[in-house]
Amino acid sequence: MNGHIAIAIDGPSGAGKSSLARRCAAAFGFVYVDTGAIYRTVGLAALRRGIDRRDEEAVKALLPELVIEMRYNDAGEQRMFLNGEDVSAEIRLPEVSICASDVSALPAVRAYLLEMQRKMAREQDVIMDGRDIGTVVLPDAELKIFLTASAEARAERRLKELQAKGVEADFEEVLRDIRYRDEQDSSRAAAPLKAAEDAVPVDTTEIDFDASFRLLCSIIRDRLGVSEREGQA
Ligand code: DC
Repeated sequence: MNGHIAIAIDGPSGAGKSSLARRCAAAFGFVYVDTGAIYRTVGLAALRRGIDRRDEEAVKALLPELVIEMRYNDAGEQRMFLNGEDVSAEIRLPEVSICASDVSALPAVRAYLLEMQRKMAREQDVIMDGRDIGTVVLPDAELKIFLTASAEARAERRLKELQAKGVEADFEEVLRDIRYRDEQDSSRAAAPLKAAEDAVPVDTTEIDFDASFRLLCSIIRDRLGVSEREGQA
């Protein structure tokens, strides 16, 4: 161990990982690392270049040309930069989600991004969310949580998020995207989405955000013996 605590949160798209992990990180004074944003940035780069995102050689050749940076602004928000440009909003577009899922199935992409993720966990206390954090990226994480919800509940939440950002989308389309990504993220050979054997399973289908947050906080407190910073409980 390197003296820093790592909490891994894995699960399918739209289970609430990012919002919950961000809030837990703020509550316990950890740095929140959204690893999906890194895959989204690679997906966006491939989309912009018009290359076939399933063509491993073509995507691999693109990687050394990309300067991918994760920076935190004064409010502690993670921003993604692609060759110096802030792409934090663009990587959330539905078409980029599909590209991210496509490129994330490529072993060359996963291998390329592995060290970047591990380095972040070596340097600070992190709550890192993704698909393979507990199984591959941080197998020694002090706590692993596998967060799920039904596909319909996740599509409903994602739709609301998109609408709040003024992005037009309909339920069936969002549900289709979620199912496409579930299938692809779980069935790929390279680091598929699956719960680590020692992960704590949390299903949020029937509970709202605040209840999910309280549940995660109690798991973190109980398992790690840490407490929320003052005023954050
Ligand atoms: O969490 P997200 O929806 O922003 O992730 C975008 C895509 O990246 C998702 O389809 C799966 C992939 N991903 C991954 O393969 N491994 C991770 N650790 C994080 C995301």
